[in-house]
Amino acid sequence: MSESRAFTEAPILDTPDGSRTAYNTRFGEAYGSRHGAAAQARHVFVEGTGTHVHPAPRVLEVGFGIGVNARATLASAARRGAPLHYLAYEFDPAPREVLAEVARHQEGNDHPAWQALLDRWPQPPLETEAGGARLNVLLGDVLEAELPAGWATALYLDGFSPARNPEVWTPAFAARLARTLAPGGVLATYSAAGHVRRALQAAGLDVERRPGPPGKRECLRAVRPA
Ligand SMILES: C[S@@+](CC[C@H](N)C(=O)[O-])C[C@H]1O[C@@H](n2cnc3c(N)ncnc32)[C@H](O)[C@@H]1O
Repeated sequence: MSESRAFTEAPILDTPDGSRTAYNTRFGEAYGSRHGAAAQARHVFVEGTGTHVHPAPRVLEVGFGIGVNARATLASAARRGAPLHYLAYEFDPAPREVLAEVARHQEGNDHPAWQALLDRWPQPPLETEAGGARLNVLLGDVLEAELPAGWATALYLDGFSPARNPEVWTPAFAARLARTLAPGGVLATYSAAGHVRRALQAAGLDVERRPGPPGKRECLRAVRPA
């Protein structure tokens, strides 16, 4: 794909914390927060799940998007020397040029696992192991995937909004996500909608509202009881 076509498909957006996101023309929504994409990744997902202090995090992400959460997690684990296994699902891979431009001069861009992923993007298998991290992006619909049971210490639920992409916010899918968490594992999401909270509770998780990232009052974390 030519660079200009890639950026027409997914125009890049600058955000106030100096990071970037992109606009997804198919869903009519930005991949990350326009109020600060890197701040959202760190606050909602990395810190919201306790991944920034976990000795050996295993993260499952729905969906990979343009990799902002993945880079924030790689950078956090690398700073501490913690081994990381990151498994993400994505059914509509964004152009490589967009991933690279959003990541330019940003945290985690110099991580060897990220660079190796970019080198092969979007040709499967998208699996790299470098710098203490295993990074695996599975291309396909997560709703049809067989999710690993009792595996994830952290689950990033980051589909597009419930209004635009209701399938990943249903009680039935929440129940499947709960089963993929290890005991004590934590699911985080930027949504604080009542129906999302209730779906996570019905799946047997202990749900907590917490202050949101810039531009958002609240977000959720949900723990699988140990
Ligand atoms: C809000 S964006 C994720 C942003 C991403 N976490 C990041 O850090 O850049 C949502 C992503 O989920 C993907 N997605 C939505 N529904 C999906 C599904 N059923 N299966 C796989 N991927 C899905 C979309 O294609 C999109 O890339």
